[in-house]
Amino acid sequence: MRKTWVLGNWKLNNDSQAIRQWLEDFNQVEVPGNAVVGVAPVSIYSQHVAAQAPQNLLVGSQNVSQFDGGAYTGEVSATMLADARIAFSLVGHSERRMYFGETNEITKDKVNALLQTGIIPVLCCGESQVQYETGKSQSVVESQLRAVLDHVAAEDVAKLVIAYEPVWAIGTGLTATPEYAQQMHQFIRALVAEYSSSASDLPILYGGSCNGSNAKELFAQADIDGGLIGGASLKVSDFNKIIEAVR
Ligand code: PGA
Repeated sequence: MRKTWVLGNWKLNNDSQAIRQWLEDFNQVEVPGNAVVGVAPVSIYSQHVAAQAPQNLLVGSQNVSQFDGGAYTGEVSATMLADARIAFSLVGHSERRMYFGETNEITKDKVNALLQTGIIPVLCCGESQVQYETGKSQSVVESQLRAVLDHVAAEDVAKLVIAYEPVWAIGTGLTATPEYAQQMHQFIRALVAEYSSSASDLPILYGGSCNGSNAKELFAQADIDGGLIGGASLKVSDFNKIIEAVR
């Protein structure tokens, strides 16, 4: 039985004051036994959040360097994230692909850097609006995933979490329908099965304007194992509605 994951991605939001309030509010949250809950703060705060977080909250990173050390100004390595007790890291988020030149090749190296440290890679994939409208969703997602899976040891595929995030749904209020999202998740699971016998255990999360009103229906789909939540994770009151949808 796969658990349901609810991971928050704060992006470039929530400063130390907002974080103090968030952690205080999160203390009132009851995480259901079948849920895995986590949050990825801005990197400068993540070590602090990891030190303060209750047992039932995983703390993640929004990014990781593909390099382990050396002359790479501005980077943070997977080893350093592990040292700061970071549990998971996003990789290949569409905003990193769009604004920071994160290619499939770099994504592959970042996933492997994380795998060496035991941090869970949350590998993001998803098609743009134009790709969606021209019927290229599956081929785009397939090439994003194969670029990584072709270079990950079969036994390590089981350590991944995949987040399917159609770019046209991110931050737009346009959520994919549960039927469409399920189709894509089923497609992704079948693709992973080519690489690993544990595909049926792999958490595949949906992301893109997921909130307290649509989470229950999305999470009820056979191949949707939770969500990667942007806007609706910034305040505990909104985030908790999604956690409650797991119950
Ligand atoms: P959103 O972002 O929930 O604000 O659409 C999701 C994400 O980008 O991970």
